[in-house]
Amino acid sequence: MPLPYQDSSLPVRERVEDLLGRMTLPEKVGQMLQLDARQDIGEIVLDKLAGSILHTSPAKLVEAAELVARTRLRIPLITAEDCIHGHAFWPGATVFPTQLAMAASWDATLVERVARATAVEAAATGVHWTFSPVLCIARDLRWGRVDETFGEDPYLISELGAAMIRGYQGAGLTDPTAILATAKHFAGYSETQGGRDASEADISRRKLRSWFLPPFERAAAEGCRVFMLGYQSMDGVPITANKWLLNDVLKEEWGFAGTLVTDWDNVGRMVWEQKVCADYAEAAAVAVKAGNDVIMTTPAFFDGAQEAIRRGLLVEEDIDAAVRRILRLKFELGLFENPRTPDATRQAAVIGSPAHTALNLEIARRSLVLLRNDGVLPLPASPSGPSKRIALLGPNADDVSAQLGDWAGDSGQVDWMPGGHPRELTSTVLDGLRDLLPGGWELDFDPAVEIEELVPDPEGETFPDGQPRPPISVGVPADPARLAAATATAAAADYAIVVVGDTVNLNGEHKSTATLELQGGQIALLDAVAATGTPMIVVLIDGKPHALPESALGAAAIVQAFNPGMRGGQAVAELLLGLIEPTGRMPISAARHAGQQPVFYNQTRGQHGSRYADLTQDPLFAFGEGLSYTTVTYDGLSIEEPDVATDGVVRATVRLSNTGTRPALETVQVYVSDLVTSVTWASRELKTYRQVTVPAGESVTVAVELAAADCTLVDADGKRVVEAGDFELLVGPSSRPSALLAAKFRIS
Ligand code: NOJ
Repeated sequence: MPLPYQDSSLPVRERVEDLLGRMTLPEKVGQMLQLDARQDIGEIVLDKLAGSILHTSPAKLVEAAELVARTRLRIPLITAEDCIHGHAFWPGATVFPTQLAMAASWDATLVERVARATAVEAAATGVHWTFSPVLCIARDLRWGRVDETFGEDPYLISELGAAMIRGYQGAGLTDPTAILATAKHFAGYSETQGGRDASEADISRRKLRSWFLPPFERAAAEGCRVFMLGYQSMDGVPITANKWLLNDVLKEEWGFAGTLVTDWDNVGRMVWEQKVCADYAEAAAVAVKAGNDVIMTTPAFFDGAQEAIRRGLLVEEDIDAAVRRILRLKFELGLFENPRTPDATRQAAVIGSPAHTALNLEIARRSLVLLRNDGVLPLPASPSGPSKRIALLGPNADDVSAQLGDWAGDSGQVDWMPGGHPRELTSTVLDGLRDLLPGGWELDFDPAVEIEELVPDPEGETFPDGQPRPPISVGVPADPARLAAATATAAAADYAIVVVGDTVNLNGEHKSTATLELQGGQIALLDAVAATGTPMIVVLIDGKPHALPESALGAAAIVQAFNPGMRGGQAVAELLLGLIEPTGRMPISAARHAGQQPVFYNQTRGQHGSRYADLTQDPLFAFGEGLSYTTVTYDGLSIEEPDVATDGVVRATVRLSNTGTRPALETVQVYVSDLVTSVTWASRELKTYRQVTVPAGESVTVAVELAAADCTLVDADGKRVVEAGDFELLVGPSSRPSALLAAKFRIS
């Protein structure tokens, strides 16, 4: 006779109560634990009775399921992984461009398809849950995790984040190809001091509501099942203890009924890092009382929570509330009937499948942003034309790990892929050009300079919690002899393609940078190649926009690729050779100098003047910017009815004319400026956008619609409201004021 909780015909609520009633206190506390499966998996499952694991190697995923069968109640494990741009810690899986690169496509449908493909691959391996998407707003480019974000704009982040959640969660929890999505890092984590990772975030509740919360509110509305907390504290309160945010806002105001997971050892950090709790019993009590459910990688929570009950800091009912939510999730996923363990047959069919590889190429093509072009691109690659000699230089022209970026293969988070992914799965720029250059063209490749050498952190090999400290990246100056050889190669070529950027050691948790300059010998290489007079094409493979030297800014063309994933090199080569059109648009503004931080476009009005004494305040490249292989002009912006009610819709049209000989995919961006506001507010904000194909030589009229209800601000009381009055509709190809057409409307 199955026990009631094992009977799938009973309602979930009854099954949860039956199981909870059978559990001992250690079993309940264990359910709340999510432990690092790189450690002893037997101890995790059998002694700590963990309900969840993360960072589980392919072999341990199989072992863990077998261990569960030896536990008293056989409560299935829920397995989680950072599948954040593909199931990138599974050997041979499809590694897509990073979130920042994907954001440059501005294409929610494409991003949703990427998340779907990721879910299909992950689900086949026994992973039930991904820690993605990142909904943080990147405002300080020095922060180490810019590459993980969708950039700087709350609206674009909301659109793409919602798409990713839909893609992961598929047809719902009973869909065997669905994985749980996680909206992270809730909320305000990216508002660092000086770009330093996980520092106290100096952020008011009003500022949170203005910019940082909207993407999360959208994620909750989209049905995202899990929210992960950030690491930071705000106004003195560690996020793990922030009852206002976790309870009043997330659960009560937004009606979120899903599961909360802390970030890595957040509970321990309250003891050893933030020092707001004297011991683990206190920290466990604070975390549970604030409404946390799954406690990531704080093994000491196991004893701490039980001790908290003994000391009267918690009652068992507090623990029960969290365990109920965890068990409900497991029942709703159907894990008691089908624990969704690794399925070798499905893996053979879907991991790195041709369809996913084709999708990867599609998004890589759409992620590339052409920032400058004096006409050198596309290269004259007609088979009948004269053959050319190309110098391909730079450390990132053939560097797989720089191209795949953080959270992939050997980027440092897992221990079972020291050699990364099979080399042949990634097309670097070198591979792409070798494959695609017309017959007869010559290609001379030389990385020429290095970016860094890694030295141990003098503070020791590990942090106080035992986690390894990343080594320090020290720039390696250019070697004069190698530089001279590369310069000669460039001088002898018709075109020099220089692929520069950064490495995974300059991006990631704990890896914020103080500067935004290209490191090592890269600037020397750019300067030397520029001095040859050979037309130079700069390709940037990096986790964040860099402040470029004059030599790069004077190049004939600049292509921003960020971390474009496994098919990135092929996509770059196609772009350079004119086999595809450049369509990407910047999801984040680039700075001329680190001292310009922050440089995001939607800053609050009001300062003395509009520049520094020694530098303009203008971004180097602005949010929304990107070129095509043609010119598209915007004119004739006209609003149908410029006086609308608060529940009305502003309808406008604008004409786009393609004055060149190649087609364009334009991202028509619609910003709003509220002309007089009761509180200081952003001078303009992206409210919607449309992607439209404009055939060569043709004009198209594009209709845009904007609900008056979206023309909001957050008032002095922290309420999001529409303030009646005069507004400007700003339409154009980027956020730069000079690129935008303006038309007035009134909300009354
Ligand atoms: C810490 C990171 O902040 C978070 O984004 C990630 O999901 C977890 N570690 C698990 O790896």
